[in-house]
Amino acid sequence: MAENKLLYEGKAKNVYQTENDDELLMVYKDQATAFNGKKKEELPGKGVLDCQISALVFDYLIKNGIETHLIKNLSDHEQLVKSSEVFPLEVVLRNITSGSLVKKFQVESGLRLSDPIIEFYYKSDALDDPFINDSQVKALRIANDEEIAFIKQMTLKINQLLVPFFSKSGFDLVDFKLEFGKVNGKIILVDEFSPDNCRLWDKKSHDSMDKDVFRKHEGDLVKTYLEVLKRLAMR
Ligand code: C5P
Repeated sequence: MAENKLLYEGKAKNVYQTENDDELLMVYKDQATAFNGKKKEELPGKGVLDCQISALVFDYLIKNGIETHLIKNLSDHEQLVKSSEVFPLEVVLRNITSGSLVKKFQVESGLRLSDPIIEFYYKSDALDDPFINDSQVKALRIANDEEIAFIKQMTLKINQLLVPFFSKSGFDLVDFKLEFGKVNGKIILVDEFSPDNCRLWDKKSHDSMDKDVFRKHEGDLVKTYLEVLKRLAMR
């Protein structure tokens, strides 16, 4: 691994080149960041937990017909993935009001939405990932109509699969963020799915079991993620 060229240094992961141009090595880091990197902390053990949780979720999605970039897990914190042309979009789906939606519209937190909301954000650290609408996505040639429709449909399908998946382990899936890429003209799910990019509330206590613990200084993030992994692995 040491000799592999670093292609991208992210907040939670590094991506390296491999001998095969079609494949990349994704290495999870022991780092938590929030507010676009303004709050940052080294948390030993976090990378392994994110990688393990994401592997469980991706394996479940793959078994249920979702195409993803995951090829295999190489170690407890490293994954071999397909190289793809990543859309510079963060696709957020919300089932329950929380976070920026509550702040923006001053609505009560914890309201179950009649239908899921899908929002696009333009991936740019320099611009703080601004909201972008469908016609802006199209006009700026980030994705065409067909791709936008496909990404939305895939996001809804993933939600339909993940709500019962997390519910079985005692979590409400409040919201989450996905990223998509293109390989040989096909759109696939990329990046990761961990409590870093979703909100999970314990069904009984309504406690946050996700990165809000870190954002809001609510406790030990690594302990929380370990509890999530244990509950998901037990199912
Ligand atoms: O902050 P907001 O309420 O818009 O976040 C919605 C969901 O998207 C949350 O689950 C959050 O963790 C995730 N998210 C993310 N990366 C971002 C912004 C939001 O994973 N840059």
